[in-house]
Amino acid sequence: MAGWTKPSASQYPHQWNWDSGFISLGWATFEWETAATEIESMLHGQWSDGMVPHVRYDPRQLADYFPGPDRWPGMERHVGRAGELTSGISNPPILALAARRIGARAPDPERRDAFWRRVLPDLARWLEYFFTARRLAGCPLVAIVHPWETGWDNSPRWDRLRQAGLRPKQIYERLDTRAVASAERPTGRDYDSYIALAEIISEGDFALAAYRDRTPFVVYDAVFDALVHRAGQELNRIAEVLGEPAVIAEAELAEFARAYDEYHWHPHLRTYVDWDAQLGEQMASPSAAGIAALSGGLSSAERVAEVAEAYLASCGTAEPICTVPPGTDAFEPSNYWRGPAWIQVNWLVIDAFREAGLERAAASLTSSTLRLVERSGFGEYFNPIDRTARGSQSFSWTAALVLDLLHTAPPKS
Ligand code: SER
Repeated sequence: MAGWTKPSASQYPHQWNWDSGFISLGWATFEWETAATEIESMLHGQWSDGMVPHVRYDPRQLADYFPGPDRWPGMERHVGRAGELTSGISNPPILALAARRIGARAPDPERRDAFWRRVLPDLARWLEYFFTARRLAGCPLVAIVHPWETGWDNSPRWDRLRQAGLRPKQIYERLDTRAVASAERPTGRDYDSYIALAEIISEGDFALAAYRDRTPFVVYDAVFDALVHRAGQELNRIAEVLGEPAVIAEAELAEFARAYDEYHWHPHLRTYVDWDAQLGEQMASPSAAGIAALSGGLSSAERVAEVAEAYLASCGTAEPICTVPPGTDAFEPSNYWRGPAWIQVNWLVIDAFREAGLERAAASLTSSTLRLVERSGFGEYFNPIDRTARGSQSFSWTAALVLDLLHTAPPKS
């Protein structure tokens, strides 16, 4: 099992799906073949139904991370390659965006096209999985079934799950607070919910229809849906260069975009929010989700500017963008997704600014993002008030995205 990068040697010793997408962007700045291999390795974990799991486990490291593959019983029946050990849920499809960008950085068009031809069918199958297995009747958006799928684990966006008070059947022991302070990680109650949800999903053999009635957590995540839309656009761009038919028909993307506005746009808050598919209503808690969703290629330049300006104003002097605005009830500056600034969220917003032609906003956010890492190191996340690095150290996507930002837009000297 070679050719992939641990998000963090101490805290996350396996291969993570969206991490690998961001990490490949860093490799592509100086070792292009390694970037291509990073993406292809992740796709080795793909299930036969097309799902690309959020974790691909390294069998040599099972003692060093909880939960392992035994907490996803039955997964071995679903993996496409015998012997692969994976989780039973997915992650935002950053790999599609990354595949297009690193292809564009290939040393020559032959290697680019060969790489794209290798990965395009698997990435297309993954999107197809979302558009079939994760669609609920009457809506083209993608249903998410676990906070770990969103990547924003303990964000206040998901506090309804905490309130549902799920308890797992099996006892467990957390390992994540050995190297990182408990105050910077999800609570015990959060973990009870995460593990209980994994049990519910596994008992339903990973088929949403089988466990839909037993779970409190089925959501349309504003950021995830945005990134699914963006993935469709990116795969279509790849297909066009290869002279192949579109992966997702333009009419289907347009229908997705219409539903996106209907379910995710909050007309009074004037930002994008999440949707609780179990209760059939929007969930609006102040967070960076609305601004991160601008990376979906779904918003006009005017809307990008409007949503971004309002969120940046709510962050006050905290910079770069933090995940929950300071001064709101849920804000905890050092706790994981409850306030800290994350480099990949800022990278997504920078990318959204560039795509919308807002070059000055992109340059300004690039500078504050790079300044933070220059001052505080390659942390997993950062307290946005005192700017200290939090979580685990030497974090791979932080380093990779700094390389990408420096490569894309070197700061003026
Ligand atoms: N982010 C999770 C963790 O903290 C796993 O996806 O372990």
